[in-house]
Amino acid sequence: MASVAFLGLGVMGYPMAGHLRNKGGHDVTVYNRTKAKAEQWVGQHGGSAAKTPAEAADGKDFVFSCVGNDDDLRAVTIGAEGAFQTMKKGAIFIDNTTASAEVARELAEKAQVRGFSFLDAPVSGGQAGAENAVLTVMVGGEQKAFDEAKPVIDAYARMVGLMGPAGAGQLTKMINQICIAGLVQGLAEGIHFGKKAGLDIEKVIEVISKGAAGSWQMENRHKTMNAGKYDFGFAVDWMRKDLGICLAEADRNGAKLPVTALIDQFYKDVQAMGGKRWDTSSLLARLEK
Ligand SMILES: NC(=O)c1ccc[n+]([C@@H]2O[C@H](COP(=O)([O-])OP(=O)(O)OC[C@H]3O[C@@H](n4cnc5c(N)ncnc54)[C@H](OP(=O)(O)O)[C@@H]3O)[C@@H](O)[C@H]2O)c1
Repeated sequence: MASVAFLGLGVMGYPMAGHLRNKGGHDVTVYNRTKAKAEQWVGQHGGSAAKTPAEAADGKDFVFSCVGNDDDLRAVTIGAEGAFQTMKKGAIFIDNTTASAEVARELAEKAQVRGFSFLDAPVSGGQAGAENAVLTVMVGGEQKAFDEAKPVIDAYARMVGLMGPAGAGQLTKMINQICIAGLVQGLAEGIHFGKKAGLDIEKVIEVISKGAAGSWQMENRHKTMNAGKYDFGFAVDWMRKDLGICLAEADRNGAKLPVTALIDQFYKDVQAMGGKRWDTSSLLARLEK
């Protein structure tokens, strides 16, 4: 049993912290900016709630975070009341936020100077993956810290991989998002075309999902897309944040991402339709507008 802190009890963090407590059997202290959520978590799982990230991280072996973006991550780490103020030497900070590779490298360097480790560890698998403890975790950082953290991360993951040095976890997550963006648009166009052609979409997907066109998005999203339901899942706002990170990194490394740039603009249209919190499969709603 390790002493653990978890910062950020959102859609993802709340169940992930729960698995660290219940499945991992760890002693968990939580912090959430909106206090009511932290109190609810302690009421449900036990453990304790701290008033600041610094208070939560004080003396812990492992400190996890899952907040929104680069700025939020900086606030809970190097902010005035951030975790880096109190992290003990030899401890490990594991960040599950989807953020830039730059902020990961910056925080890894700052952690090293202070005598503890930082791992960028973004996740894939969505809300259901977090709730069912089957997330894929893409890690960047030192081998030694990875080996120590992996058994703890395992509490909420099905696959945990060390991808390279600091930032490599975030770079891998960018590839994940680049692959998804074009694929969801393809699926949206397929369903849109099928409806226009007067075919039974359920029947079409039942057959083609077993062939070369099959995908996680097809399996998990075709029913809700066909029904026009988008009030769940991975928010368009988050996807635009992620694609922005991908496009900025491509500017730096010279990669060409024409389809990713186009889909980012399609998601901008979805936001303008009122779909900021809709699931990313809502690209179909844009075609049906
Ligand atoms: N949802 C998904 O399916 C999914 C899948 C993979 C990856 N991700 C990534 O995981 C991260 C979290 O996503 P989520 O869906 O869990 O988001 P969410 O439900 O909006 O939760 C965000 C969490 O971060 C906290 N937070 C935000 N800004 C903060 C700040 N400046 N200081 C302190 N706390 C702050 C929020 O606190 P409050 O409660 O006070 O607002 C909340 O606990 C994002 O980077 C997202 O891209 C999400």
